[in-house]
Amino acid sequence: MISDLSALQLQIEASLQQHLPTKSQIAQPMLDAMSYAVMGGGKRLRPMLVCASCEAFGGDYETAMPAACAFEFIHAYSLIHDDLPAMDDDALRHGKPSTHIAFGEANAILAGDSLHSLAFQAISEAQGISATNKLTIISLLSKAAGWPGMSGGQCLDIAAEGKVLELPELEMLHAAKTGALIKSALEVGALSAGADIQSAAYSAIGEFGAKIGLAFQVVDDILDVTETSDMLGKPAGSDEDLNKNTFPRLLGLDPSKQKAEDLLQEALALLKQTGLHTSLLATLANRAVHRTF
Ligand code: IPE
Ligand code: IPE
Ligand code: MG
Ligand code: MG
Ligand code: MG
Repeated sequence: MISDLSALQLQIEASLQQHLPTKSQIAQPMLDAMSYAVMGGGKRLRPMLVCASCEAFGGDYETAMPAACAFEFIHAYSLIHDDLPAMDDDALRHGKPSTHIAFGEANAILAGDSLHSLAFQAISEAQGISATNKLTIISLLSKAAGWPGMSGGQCLDIAAEGKVLELPELEMLHAAKTGALIKSALEVGALSAGADIQSAAYSAIGEFGAKIGLAFQVVDDILDVTETSDMLGKPAGSDEDLNKNTFPRLLGLDPSKQKAEDLLQEALALLKQTGLHTSLLATLANRAVHRTF
């Protein structure tokens, strides 16, 4: 049983460290960049969601830990690439130089590539999950990280710089670039507990995840406007500098805050209606929305 979130976070940190390779005769600078990007901070929201969802479906969260790490590896890779000069060109991440500043662009790109494959290695080698469920998990994560999900959303995010998207397009962008990984983290937690993909509860946890995932990116957009770089550990005002499509830009600050709050309340109501409510899932949903970095 997960007793508290700080203890869970420590366990996730330890597990991430265990999965990371540390010595290579051919690729030491890339390995160092991988460790720097993964172990250098981060809220660990996605792996916590995997573990919490596993428990909500009656599983042992330790079974889900390799898949939880896989989500953090994909996330860390997405941040390395997101900060590159060809993308958001941000020099600060987790209060430190971004990976490409610390290790050079080539090593940063390669570290991202290797974290991407390490994620799938971790799932393939996981113990205690049936081969069938592992394949479903791999399929889900492939789509959530790939062209219909995170990297597809990143493509639209870049293509839309300097243009003004309509609200449904912006929702689609955020659902893809950020929502897809968060939604699938919850689904994968459920599958790690042996959930039936056809069940109503499985659909409900995905719907909960989609709402929290969209709210998470709405809040990320808001914090870019309202917080300092010191507080965020990444450059504040980056979205405006790059002419990004964001909720505050399209709707204004207060309606954006309301949107995030509405999504949170809808998500929490859904948990209650479907009998999936646990204090852990509710706490994580609240954290995703009510945060300052
Ligand atoms: C930042 O995600 C990038 C987005 C998808 C909005 P997080 O805010 O979860 O990043 P860390 O890992 O906690 O720094
Ligand atoms: C990035 O969104 C989402 C990813 C897929 C990495 P942002 O570009 O807004 O993330 P931050 O603000 O740099 O963390
Ligand atoms: Mg970006
Ligand atoms: Mg960025
Ligand atoms: Mg942002």
